[in-house]
Amino acid sequence: MTDITSAQHQQVTDLFTNIWKNYIEVTPSAHKIHQLLGAGADLINDHVAYRTFNHPKVNLVTLADHLVKLGYKDSGEYDFSSKKLNAKHFEHADTSLPKVFISELRIEEFSEEVQKIITKMIDSIDEKDVADQSFLYSGTHWQVSQADYQTLLAESEYAAWVSAWGYRANHFTVSINHLENFSSIEAVNAIVKAGGFVLNTNGGEIKGNEIVKLEQSSTMADKAVVKFSDGEAIIPSCFYEFAKRYPLDCGTLYSGFVAASADKIFESTNVAA
Ligand code: NI
Repeated sequence: MTDITSAQHQQVTDLFTNIWKNYIEVTPSAHKIHQLLGAGADLINDHVAYRTFNHPKVNLVTLADHLVKLGYKDSGEYDFSSKKLNAKHFEHADTSLPKVFISELRIEEFSEEVQKIITKMIDSIDEKDVADQSFLYSGTHWQVSQADYQTLLAESEYAAWVSAWGYRANHFTVSINHLENFSSIEAVNAIVKAGGFVLNTNGGEIKGNEIVKLEQSSTMADKAVVKFSDGEAIIPSCFYEFAKRYPLDCGTLYSGFVAASADKIFESTNVAA
């Protein structure tokens, strides 16, 4: 590698170290499973996922801008009509770096009441914070009441999750292809369950298959304390995902996502599980 690319590799790695630290604060099970699967060694992250709203101040392009500056490229687009989401994924030329999957909620497709709550949240974000890379591990920039959280929850689990947790990794994903001690998703799921962790069974424990070139599973989100404007509550935080990719005819591993599988992975943070 040239000095420029190795400097960029370090910048990206440093960013994901900060994102990981912020993520495990509310997702202690990810830290434990990481040790269970890696036996202390570093694991390769397949991807990290973000959630946001399609408001120009914080939309997926705005979040992605921090990654694009570090060499990431727009590499695939997805639509989740029932959840009212757009998504894109971003890849780095250095394939040892995690892919990033960013979705955004189509605010205009919700009731006026929900739109009002979301707009108020976004209005209280300082533009300067959005422009700083640390926005990707900054959490919430607003205060919502428990009643507002419930109003969002009634229309969108996704909107309610963002109102509680804001800008942080929604999940990290272990690349099963790069694990030393496990080669199948079945074996990974078995050890995770034996460790006492609960898997998301919506759409089956394993989403996807060799035909679509991607198999995925995930834990159900941990539960953590959120400080609402009128008190604390314990609600689903973030989860850990496992992905196994299969090679294309050319021999390289499939690097995209499968919308039907991702649709079910989103449900790993459901309150109504
Ligand atoms: Ni994912």
